Amino acid sequence: MKINMADLKKQHDGIREELDSVIKEVIDSSAFILGSKVTDFENSYSVFTGAKHTVGMASGTGALHAALVALDVGVGDEVITVPFTFAATVEMIYLSGAKPVFVDIEPDSFTMDVSKIEDAITDKTKVIMPVHLYGQMADMDRIMAIAEKHQLKVIEDAAQAQGAEFNGAHAGTIGDIGTFSFFPGKNLGAMGDAGACTTNRDTLAEKMRMILNHGQSIKYEHTIIGYNYRLDSIQAAVLDVKLKELTKWNAHRNKIASVYSENLKDTGLILPIINENRNHVWHQYVIRTGKREELKKALAELGIATALHYPIPLHLQPAFSYLNYSTGDFPVAELCSEEVLSLPMYPELPEETAVEISQEIVKICKELGI
Ligand SMILES: Cc1ncc(COP(=O)(O)O)c(C=O)c1O
Repeated sequence: MKINMADLKKQHDGIREELDSVIKEVIDSSAFILGSKVTDFENSYSVFTGAKHTVGMASGTGALHAALVALDVGVGDEVITVPFTFAATVEMIYLSGAKPVFVDIEPDSFTMDVSKIEDAITDKTKVIMPVHLYGQMADMDRIMAIAEKHQLKVIEDAAQAQGAEFNGAHAGTIGDIGTFSFFPGKNLGAMGDAGACTTNRDTLAEKMRMILNHGQSIKYEHTIIGYNYRLDSIQAAVLDVKLKELTKWNAHRNKIASVYSENLKDTGLILPIINENRNHVWHQYVIRTGKREELKKALAELGIATALHYPIPLHLQPAFSYLNYSTGDFPVAELCSEEVLSLPMYPELPEETAVEISQEIVKICKELGI
């Protein structure tokens, strides 16, 4: 058996002609920066998500920074987020000048524990930044209610949640701004780095368009300080082709998740749950066990890849030691870092292979006493 965590080659083989054709169009047009391919993708993504505006960005990281800058987050402000996410979420809070303030996550959904938010709010808090981890949205009803009560803004880090829904509303359309990564391995992935912000507010969309292009709305007139977070045309063209497949791809991910959940239900593994009112898009299928390392090793010996998202929570990373958190501060994030294991999950993974992977896991669990 040789099973990887993703198979982008297979994904691209299925749509290769169309990809080649749109990339050729960009080369022939020589419009590599911004231009009609970017606008076309932005419009398609707005239709897909239901957001009023999509603003293409160079990466999910750039999207997070642009969102914070657009909301005037800076020195003296605090932004509440989780310690169990990819580092970019917190790096960008740092880069904005604000202080990251963590709240713990829920052990079963891995998203922000909303019951802990109010304790973390101070008179400096400006933004709540939930992360829709692994493809499942945080409890946006409660987050929005808390934000409204304390007059805070909300940025949804939806890097891992293209197509996810909460009460029928798409990820990125409930808070003030949603940020997306289109890193190649994401549910919707480019052929390089790419990202986007979504918003329903005209003024924020306009401001983010300036921020991503050196603060200009007119060439060489720099209204505000900006950056270069432009989405390039080749990536936009690729994304527009792939977006047409996303609903089908997400549905297949859901099937694979059901195969795993059904076949592993009698083991002692802690399986991921779908919270009420959510459409989970399974960017990752993540199980938990205290014998994670043994299980990972046994699967590797069989040629089955697994991954750790994430092995060290951010409050215990050297990069964030300046925040002076210590072990024990966020016990759920700490426990999850020790126990999580991501199984192969991608739209091209045949259901039969997911069954075979599950059968191997069941055998190993018996051997390990899980
Ligand atoms: C939760 C989260 N936020 C932000 C990012 C950053 O996105 P990018 O890699 O496109 O910069 C990622 C990427 O993995 C992510 O998973």
